[in-house]
Amino acid sequence: MTKENKSKITKICCIGAGYVGGPTMVVFADKCPHINFYVVDINEKKIEAWNQDDLKKLPVYEPGLDQLVKKCRGNNLFFSSDIENNIANSDMIFISVNTPTKTRGIGAGKASNLMYVEKCARQVAMYAKNHTIVVEKSTLPVRTAEVIKTILEEAQDSIQNNPNKPTFDVLSNPEFLSEGSAIKDLNVPDRVLIGGESEEAINKLCEIYKNWVPEVKILRTNIWSSELAKLTANAFLAQRISSINSIAALCESTGADIREVSRAIGTDNRIGSKFLDSGPGFGGSCFKKDILNLVYLSKHFGLPEVAAFWESVVEMNSWHQHRISKLIVQKLFGTITGKKIAILGFAFKANTNDTRESAAIQICKDLLEEGANLIIHDPIVDENQIKIDLKTSNNNQKTNLQFSNSWSFTNSLDNVFIEAHAVVILTEWSEYSNIDWVNIAKMMKKPGWVFDSRLIVNSKKVLEANLKLWRIGDGT
Ligand code: UDX
Ligand code: ADP
Repeated sequence: MTKENKSKITKICCIGAGYVGGPTMVVFADKCPHINFYVVDINEKKIEAWNQDDLKKLPVYEPGLDQLVKKCRGNNLFFSSDIENNIANSDMIFISVNTPTKTRGIGAGKASNLMYVEKCARQVAMYAKNHTIVVEKSTLPVRTAEVIKTILEEAQDSIQNNPNKPTFDVLSNPEFLSEGSAIKDLNVPDRVLIGGESEEAINKLCEIYKNWVPEVKILRTNIWSSELAKLTANAFLAQRISSINSIAALCESTGADIREVSRAIGTDNRIGSKFLDSGPGFGGSCFKKDILNLVYLSKHFGLPEVAAFWESVVEMNSWHQHRISKLIVQKLFGTITGKKIAILGFAFKANTNDTRESAAIQICKDLLEEGANLIIHDPIVDENQIKIDLKTSNNNQKTNLQFSNSWSFTNSLDNVFIEAHAVVILTEWSEYSNIDWVNIAKMMKKPGWVFDSRLIVNSKKVLEANLKLWRIGDGT
């Protein structure tokens, strides 16, 4: 498939301007002023949002992102809906489209839906000219590169109207950035992983990273190891969170404190201290999806025990979220029907506007199901996104008033607490650590409860305000 091509990379196209493609290309553009980057997306509104003057309204919120966009946009970074021409003019194409879990058909609920990736590959086959290096950036099931390669090769033969007969190399270069710290992660990655067959194509991608990443941090593997390493990294990280959350439940029953347990085990070098914070359960677009991919893969290859092992990580996460909803109901005298509950935070973690798989979605749905009236606060998340996530409009009163469940949204903390029976902290936004509880307690119903699923409030101050406090993993 490879045609010798010694020329330097000068134009890069990224298909998909989402949470991965957007920030990644912004940092690439900052680090490689000699290369032009074209970020394309089928969603024209998203491209408009990336191009607008008001940098506060970029489609992705990440600390530091706006300043880099300001610096590079229009110089060597361009957001465009012209997919065809940008594919045609590029030497290297990153595929950064979404790969949601399939909702129907074979592998439903587990396997990734590769329709967006396939469509991309067909577009690349159709429009590319000359030799093009195609780089998988999205997290994909193992052996997707092979699928992309087959499509590129075979779609070529049937496409009559591409006279250029381009050639391709396919590389896997998974992204390990974590939302909320994406710019830092991209600037100083722990490692860069490149999987592929063609030494020359790998070298070209390496040359790009070498503009800011020390060569020792660039790992070369075969293409399947690279794909599997990405799924495994996410599965291991998620597994730590389910492990610590399972112990948090035990702490609450036994009188131990999860923070002390985390500290005690985290000082063991072999375990390490990171990713041991108990919380409301992991969210984000990757963890659940990637584990379910592993589960699907394991079953496919006749390894049901391996599948069951990893599936339990997701099951624990889901159980943990329901456990929190249940104990809120329990503490509020077994009923929350018609009670106002303030939800602090809807994003799946702080410093992002992303709500995909956020624990807040399940917990809010559970509380609404029990008839609560929620007032949801998040400093960055858009209200329309919450509408989509909860699959109901706000202030949607059911006809039977006894079970009136509703929610409203605010991005200001001013009116959140008035007449509330409880405050539930679900995202660790820094502003929630500095709440003046004495003042808040005066506005709330008595007894007023604070449920802190992120261990960020000052417990002494909450208790001094005569509020009742539940903290995750705190059995003391
Ligand atoms: C993750 C991986 O970290 C990243 O390498 C990969 O590229 C994409 O998936 P992300 O989902 O953006 O990144 O965020 P991450 O920081 O990993 O957090 C995931 C979830 O775990 C969040 O809901 C977070 O609140 C939760 N979490 C994380 C905990 O509950 N406790 C922890 O100690 C760490
Ligand atoms: P991620 O977190 O993986 O970046 P997002 O959903 O935030 O996922 O972004 C993926 C982007 O890919 C979306 O903006 C979507 O519109 C875009 N996309 C999907 N398929 C195509 C395609 N065939 N061509 C161009 N863009 C696409």
